[in-house]
Amino acid sequence: MLFLFILLLCARESHSSRVEHAEGPVQLDNHVGSMFPKIAPLGAPQGPQPFLPLLAPSPMTPFTNISIPKLSGLCSLNFTNAKSLLSVTAIDCWGFFAPFVANIMCCPQLEATVTVLIGQSSKHTNALALNGTVAKHCLSDVEQILMGQGASGDLRQICSISSSNLTEASCPVKHVNEFNDMVDTSKLLLACADIDPVKECCYQVCHNAILEAATAIASKGSHVLDLDASHDLPEHSIRVNDCRNIVLRWIASKLDPSHGKKVLRGLSNCNMNKVCPLVLPDAKQVAKSCGSGISNRTACCNAMESYVSHLQKQSFITNLQALDCAETLAMKLKKSNVADDVYSLCHISLKDFSLQEYGCLLPSLPSDAIFDSTSGVTFLCDLNDNIPAPWPSTSQLASKSCNKSVNIPALPAAASGQSCLYSRHVLIFLLVNLFFLAMALV
Ligand SMILES: *[C@@H]1O[C@H](CO)[C@@H](O)[C@H](O)[C@H]1NC(C)=O
Ligand SMILES: *[C@@H]1O[C@H](CO)[C@@H](O)[C@H](O)[C@H]1NC(C)=O
Ligand SMILES: *[C@@H]1O[C@H](CO)[C@@H](O)[C@H](O)[C@H]1NC(C)=O
Ligand SMILES: *[C@@H]1O[C@H](CO)[C@@H](O)[C@H](O)[C@H]1NC(C)=O
Ligand SMILES: *[C@@H]1O[C@H](CO)[C@@H](O)[C@H](O)[C@H]1NC(C)=O
Ligand SMILES: *[C@@H]1O[C@H](CO)[C@@H](O)[C@H](O)[C@H]1NC(C)=O
Repeated sequence: MLFLFILLLCARESHSSRVEHAEGPVQLDNHVGSMFPKIAPLGAPQGPQPFLPLLAPSPMTPFTNISIPKLSGLCSLNFTNAKSLLSVTAIDCWGFFAPFVANIMCCPQLEATVTVLIGQSSKHTNALALNGTVAKHCLSDVEQILMGQGASGDLRQICSISSSNLTEASCPVKHVNEFNDMVDTSKLLLACADIDPVKECCYQVCHNAILEAATAIASKGSHVLDLDASHDLPEHSIRVNDCRNIVLRWIASKLDPSHGKKVLRGLSNCNMNKVCPLVLPDAKQVAKSCGSGISNRTACCNAMESYVSHLQKQSFITNLQALDCAETLAMKLKKSNVADDVYSLCHISLKDFSLQEYGCLLPSLPSDAIFDSTSGVTFLCDLNDNIPAPWPSTSQLASKSCNKSVNIPALPAAASGQSCLYSRHVLIFLLVNLFFLAMALV
């Protein structure tokens, strides 16, 4: 059994002055000022943790102990091309920490990296997909490379990726020449060569161009007359979706690897922020204590707190996802006859939806974990503790997504009405106690 002790050390930097949050993107500030570190082991019982000042254990030297991966020699991808993407992926998917950032960092980065690798290789092979045999070797090689740099060994499961994701799947087009013949490539490139990750989520210019291209190649072999009828079939949408991957690889073949990755992460980020990734358990207990008129506030808030504490064991999320989660939970509660704004009654804030008590919300724009040899694996939080979770009114629900996306780099919309907010940027240090690791390996 492998004992991996992960310590979360939240270093908070409170800005001495109040910051107005009327508009504009939040500055991400990554310098570490005076801090009040605090340690909470993952999976520890909920409840206020003591504020423990603790010096970081000695640096993670073995992080840099990159082992030489055993490669199959049968994969046609050129890993040299995407070396830096692979090392970022290894850090984003790092060991024990991968499942907690799977949805927001690890898997989007892994998918983008694989797409770039295949896209780049198409420049030589003329193919935007690998055949089944090669795909198996390549996925395994990618895993080996990433694991050699500290990534979790369980990425297939964590990111539900399999070797078929490297093939053309059901898409009928995989050769570059054929792609070029069927798609308005200059239009596609114009829309997608450079995307603004904020505007893209709202106006979906590249997204729509991709969909158009994917639909075009998916129609190969269909008769024009069949098309209208087949549009509604589930096979058709699976096909278009598989062709979407082909289109993404084509785009990645036209851009340099790091830029291509940026575009891909920007695209996947729009979808990611639209959905609450948390599993919301049954709210019976909350409904019982808070439903049909709240007779006992303490009992209601106890039930709420207990409910939220289950959410806090799941995953890190972005600030926009926290808004989605707050809204989804509110709808669930309303359906169970909880009519009152229990968020404000019980002082539930957005960060309460994130992993663990002192959890932080990640910025809504794509972000990566950072490795440095003194502090280990770190990532930046876009935390604003004081944003109360908004209880949606019926009218709010209707006018959703685009407006929200427009505000992506800014604080969640809920903040704008507040007059005094502290801006806090938190660095979470993920420290792995290598001493325990070493002991377990002996
Ligand atoms: C570092 O890598 C070498 C060679 O792969 C290995 O033998 C050694 O055990 C590694 N050290 C640690 C602390 O993982
Ligand atoms: C991989 O790509 C690099 C840089 O583009 C190139 O120098 C190298 O020769 C390629 N390796 C193979 C095996 O194609
Ligand atoms: C897959 O591709 C490789 C290399 O391009 C080729 O050698 C092999 O025969 C192909 N396998 C199948 C089943 O098509
Ligand atoms: C791989 O393909 C499966 C099924 O086609 C899909 O559900 C999954 O999301 C894909 N994973 C990635 C990482 O693309
Ligand atoms: C309210 O609920 C709390 C906790 O369940 C309980 O201790 C308290 O007696 C209740 N108060 C009333 C007035 O029922
Ligand atoms: C945001 O939504 C409001 C009300 O629905 C609308 O008036 C406004 O134009 C929208 N802003 C943007 C940038 O879409």
